[in-house]
Amino acid sequence: LNFTVKSSEIKTAVSPNMWGIFFEDINLSADGGIYAELVKNRSFEFSTPLMGWSIPKEAAAGGQVLIVNRREADAANPRFAKVTVTGTRNFALVNEGFRGMGIKAGEQYNFTVYARQQRATPVQLTVTLLDESGKAIGSTTVSPTGNSWQQYKGSFTAAATVPRAKLQVEFSGPGVVDVDMISLFPQHTWKERPNGLRADLVQLLADLHPGFLRFPGGCIVEGKELTNRYQWKKTVGDVNERTVIINRWNNEFAHRAAPDYFQSFGLGFFEYFQLSEDIGASPLPILNCGMACQFNSGEVVAVNELDPYIQDALDLIEFANGDVTTKWGALRSKMGHPAPFHLKMMGVGNEQWGPQYVERYTIFAKAIKDKYPDIKLVNSLGPSPDGDKFTFLNDTLRKLNADILDEHYYSAPEWFLSNAARYDSYDRKGPKIFAGEYAAHNKAVANGGNKNTWQCALAEAAFMTGLERNADVVVMASYAPLLAHVDGWQWAPDLIWFDNLRSYGTPNYYVQKLYANNKGNSVVPIVKDNQPISGQDSVYASAVVDNATGELVVKLVNAASTPKPVAVSIQGAKNIATTGRLITLQSNDLQELNSLDQPTRISPEEKSIAIKGKTIRTEIAPWSFYVIRTKIK
Ligand code: AHR
Repeated sequence: LNFTVKSSEIKTAVSPNMWGIFFEDINLSADGGIYAELVKNRSFEFSTPLMGWSIPKEAAAGGQVLIVNRREADAANPRFAKVTVTGTRNFALVNEGFRGMGIKAGEQYNFTVYARQQRATPVQLTVTLLDESGKAIGSTTVSPTGNSWQQYKGSFTAAATVPRAKLQVEFSGPGVVDVDMISLFPQHTWKERPNGLRADLVQLLADLHPGFLRFPGGCIVEGKELTNRYQWKKTVGDVNERTVIINRWNNEFAHRAAPDYFQSFGLGFFEYFQLSEDIGASPLPILNCGMACQFNSGEVVAVNELDPYIQDALDLIEFANGDVTTKWGALRSKMGHPAPFHLKMMGVGNEQWGPQYVERYTIFAKAIKDKYPDIKLVNSLGPSPDGDKFTFLNDTLRKLNADILDEHYYSAPEWFLSNAARYDSYDRKGPKIFAGEYAAHNKAVANGGNKNTWQCALAEAAFMTGLERNADVVVMASYAPLLAHVDGWQWAPDLIWFDNLRSYGTPNYYVQKLYANNKGNSVVPIVKDNQPISGQDSVYASAVVDNATGELVVKLVNAASTPKPVAVSIQGAKNIATTGRLITLQSNDLQELNSLDQPTRISPEEKSIAIKGKTIRTEIAPWSFYVIRTKIK
């Protein structure tokens, strides 16, 4: 197969926001996942106040726990636990963690609790991590004094590695003590931050060098009904005052029921902005546009009551970019970040559709653009490509001169293969495209049997050649969803899987990583037999130039079961190095997967490749993705 690359004919610049990541708290991604808190329902705000907590039989006779609601005094965090200890024996509460607590031998764990004593005889707390057989693997004591709320701390080093530990809090009296925000964090978090994130998971994200971070979702932005929509203002400031709500994915899909899925918002908008900055990604928040999830209630806010929603959007821009003298800039500064977060774009609505979306978006857009004309707005084009909903919004929003249209496609691998040239013929003058959510699904969407097979990853790699070639139209792209706990997921496939201690990137992750780490700066034309690339002979291709290293980067995908001899002739370069780097991702089994036990079964391998004259010759293996980098002048 003969390809020609015109290495000096710069077609277009690669968007600095290519390739990005989509974060949503689905599959225990936040609480129980990347947010390193180990205690589930630390503030007793789940719909069943003691969900996640139990009273060991032998401790039940030692006292009692009462959940007290002080909504008038503290609407954000109304409940606390009042523990009465009789004194004849100790009382105890045990927390089960999200799916247990992942504990590592030799690591320090930090316990905190808010407490106040209610009697002159103080109650002491002995805090113990228990392994799966009930054996203590670490312990500390805290001795609250005084009758006003105060935070108390204790630390210990764990004696064993345990994937599903529990935390026991034993109360010795007699006396009465009020407790709230019972928390346990590992000392080692990403950048060692208190209230921090799981370092292994953030590292996997950082290794992608993502161009943007979209947050907080997904359908979670919408909520099943408007009361439980995502409201960023309730996720910033003091962690103790962030209002817990039910997660939109609570109990979704029968194959993995999760009635205990809530959002503590310990990972809130400040932390999302901070994470974006840490990993070099542009922040891309998506806000509710006055519409709940249309797959569920379809509840919308009355148009004449849209103002608070719009104010949230305006205030978010001030929170991210405003100087420290502004109300919301001052809060950002108080939270530890006086410098702005450089927000440049924002999504209005997730997967909405119909005239009701257009009506609300138009009001949003006017208010935002009037005050912040430089902020680019991202618009939803609904849940799936090319249907009636999509066509209506696509036509309407183009007429409204939208900035960026967000297309979602969860489809069969064949769809991705046959849509690799989708953007070749898109309107160049209209809005830019954000491929905001995509993943190849072997089975129907929402079928629990979907897996991150090599077949899916390969189809995505083929499709992405088309995104890359059309960088003048497609400015952002993100696989979705991002994270999934092996014991607590609702949706598959997902880019990264983890349990309480381990994590791994799927073959799809390595496809994303190869694109993101080899994105170059400028797209250059590549043709096959002088024809545009459209997956002829099941081979897909794209090419970019990397100015920083002076390299031409060619990507080739062979979606066939047979090897393909390939010649890539390089035009427009005077000198071409005699060797290059060949990075391959390949498997002879389309159904092959990575796993916690075999995390890198399908992962990139690198070797050098000899180049004779101005042509790269190689045979691309069956079912493979090749990245070839070579210096040119
Ligand atoms: O990624 C999972 C879900 O898929 C997202 O929440 C939603 O936007 C889409 O339907």
